[in-house]
Amino acid sequence: MSLIDNLKSTLEKMESSGSFHFAHIESEVMEMLERAKQHVLDNPEPVFAILRRIKPVLIVKNIALVTRFDDVQDVLVRDDIFQVTYGEKMRVVTGGNDFFLGMQNSPEYERDTTHMRSVIRRSDIADVIAPFVANAAKSIVDSAAGGLDVVSQLGLVVPTRLVGAYFGTKPVSETDVAGWASTIFQYLFTDLNNDPAVDAAARDASARTRAWLDDAIKEVKSRDASKREDTVLTRCLALQAAGLPGMTDVDIRNNLLGLLVGAIPTTSKCCAQALDELLKRPAELAKAQVAARTGDDATFAQYVFEALRFHPNNPGVFRVAAEEYVVGKGQMHATRIPAGTSVLAATQSAMFDERVVESSKEFRIDRPAYNYMHWGVGLHTCFGQYINQVQIPGILKPLLQRGNLRRADGDAGTLKFAGPFPSSLGVQFD
Ligand code: HEM
Repeated sequence: MSLIDNLKSTLEKMESSGSFHFAHIESEVMEMLERAKQHVLDNPEPVFAILRRIKPVLIVKNIALVTRFDDVQDVLVRDDIFQVTYGEKMRVVTGGNDFFLGMQNSPEYERDTTHMRSVIRRSDIADVIAPFVANAAKSIVDSAAGGLDVVSQLGLVVPTRLVGAYFGTKPVSETDVAGWASTIFQYLFTDLNNDPAVDAAARDASARTRAWLDDAIKEVKSRDASKREDTVLTRCLALQAAGLPGMTDVDIRNNLLGLLVGAIPTTSKCCAQALDELLKRPAELAKAQVAARTGDDATFAQYVFEALRFHPNNPGVFRVAAEEYVVGKGQMHATRIPAGTSVLAATQSAMFDERVVESSKEFRIDRPAYNYMHWGVGLHTCFGQYINQVQIPGILKPLLQRGNLRRADGDAGTLKFAGPFPSSLGVQFD
C-alpha cells in the first residue's frame, strides 16, 4: 500500500467515525498531528495537495475542509447555504451592533455596503489612494538609512496613515491604532479556540478603538459643515444629514471600525509575506525590481500577487452550513455536508488546484486574474479588493526600486510572527 493509499484509508476511517475514536490510532495520530501542526499551519499546501487528490472534501469533528478550486467557489457563492459566522464576535467588537461582514445577505447588509461604497469610491483609488500610498511609502524608504523593518516601519505604517487621512480619523498614536486593529482581527478571524486572553485583549482594544472613533466623529461634527475636508467620515455625515437610515454616529463609527480592522493588519501581512517570497526567489525578485524601476505597475503587481499565492493572507475562510448540501455533486468525490457543519473553504488550496491553475507549483506572472482568491469569493468578497490591488504593490514599490535589496543580516532578516501576524522582516538596500 502506498503512503497516499495509507493516508487515504486513515482519513476515511477518521471521517466515518466522525472523530478520532480509534483507540489504537488515536494517540499515534494525535502525536503526529501535534508535531505536524505548526509545520502544517505554516505551510499547509503539501497537505492540501494530498487532500485535493485523495479526499477533496474531508469532514472531521463537524468541520469540513474543502480543497478543490470549483468546490471552494461553489461554497462561497452559495451564501444562503454556507453562512458567515462572525456575527457574535462582531457585536462584541462594535459594542452590541452589527457590521456587514458578520451579516447574512439581508436588506441591512445591502443598505450598509451600499452606503459605504458610496463614500469609499472606486474613483478614489486613482485620485487619492494611489498617490497617498506612493508618497507615504517613498518618504519612509527614502528616510531609512540603508535598511528598515518591513512590518513595523512600512507595512503597518502606510495603511494606518491612509486610514487616518482618507477616512478623516487621524490617530492619536499610529502604533496604538495598528495594534488595536491587529488584536481585534485576531479575535474575529483567527482565534478558533476562543482563547480567554485574546478575548480580553480584543474587548479592551475594541473599547479604545470605539472611543477614539467617537471622539473623531464628535470633533468633525463640531466644525462648521463648510469647513470640513472631503473625507470618508464627512461623506458619511453628509448621508446622515440627508436622513439616510443606518447612518447614526454609532452606525458610522461601526462601519469605520469594521473597515479599518479589515484594512491594516491584512495589508501589512500581505506586504511582508509577498516580499519574503520574492526574497526566496532571486531571479523573480530581480525581474520584479525591473518592473518597479521602469514603472511597469501592472507587471509589478503580477509579481507581488503571484508571490502572495505562495504565502497568502489566510488559508481559507470559514462558513457554517445552514442546510445540508452536497459538494462536488455528480462527481466521484461528491460529499454530503450536514446542516450545522463548519466549513473551511480553503482558498489557498484552490489557488494551487492543478485542475484549474496551470502548472500551479510554478511561479508565473501570466496567470488570469480568476486563478487568484486572495480576496475571497461571492457575497463577502473583500470590500477593499481594489484598494489592495494598488496599496500592496504601492507600499513595496519604492523598496524594490532600491539596488541590492536583501534580507538584513542574521535573524533580523527572517520573517517572524507574533500570533497570526508578521512581527518583523528586516531588509537592507543601497
Ligand atoms: C490587504 C489585504 C486584504 C486581504 C488579504 C483581505 C482579505 C479579505 C477576505 C479573504 C475577505 C472575505 C472574508 C470572508 O469571505 O469571510 C475580506 C472581506 C472583507 N474585507 Fe478585506 N482584505 C484585505 C484588505 C482590506 C481592506 C483594505 C479593507 C477596507 C478598506 C477590507 C475590508 C473588508 C471587508 C469590509 C470585508 C467584508 C466584505 C463583506 O462582508 O461584504 N479588507 N477581506
